[in-house]
Amino acid sequence: MERTFIMIKPDGVQRGLVGEVIGRFEAKGFTLVGLKLMSVSKELAEEHYDVHKERPFFGSLVEFICSSPVVAMVWEGEGVVASARKLIGATNPLSAEPGTIRGDFGVSVGRNLIHGSDAIETAQREISLWFNEKELSSWEPTVKTWLYE
Ligand code: RTP
Ligand code: MG
Repeated sequence: MERTFIMIKPDGVQRGLVGEVIGRFEAKGFTLVGLKLMSVSKELAEEHYDVHKERPFFGSLVEFICSSPVVAMVWEGEGVVASARKLIGATNPLSAEPGTIRGDFGVSVGRNLIHGSDAIETAQREISLWFNEKELSSWEPTVKTWLYE
């Protein structure tokens, strides 16, 4: 089953939106397989955002991710990578549609609350970067037959 990496960024934790975000993923029908609150090292933040290392915002982005705890999660379900990006909304919260997490709760690109893997291969890379195999639980939700045909 497909998995994705989701991180509630420091602004989402500070603003008390952890429950709101988790609730949206649960209500959609995805399965939580990994969850931890953690302070992020500079090394991990730099590795996570390695693809952006030449961009002008890289330094401030890494500094922000390390500035206060984040909630790192792995969610599972059919099509979860692309669907999570839809639940999250556009990178700039002012362009994000109402009904999305960024559209409902954010106003600034540098404070856009949440990260979601942008492709299946990226998700695999990010999950192994943030979690040990032991920290992930494979389990079958009893509602599964009511979610999938
Ligand atoms: P993310 O990786 O955090 O899920 O966000 P994303 O895919 O929607 O956007 P991406 O292009 O990967 O950018 C990563 C994060 O960098 C910050 N950013 N700042 N100041 C700027 O112009 C700018 N552009 C991007 C945002 O926090 C964005 O989520
Ligand atoms: Mg991205």
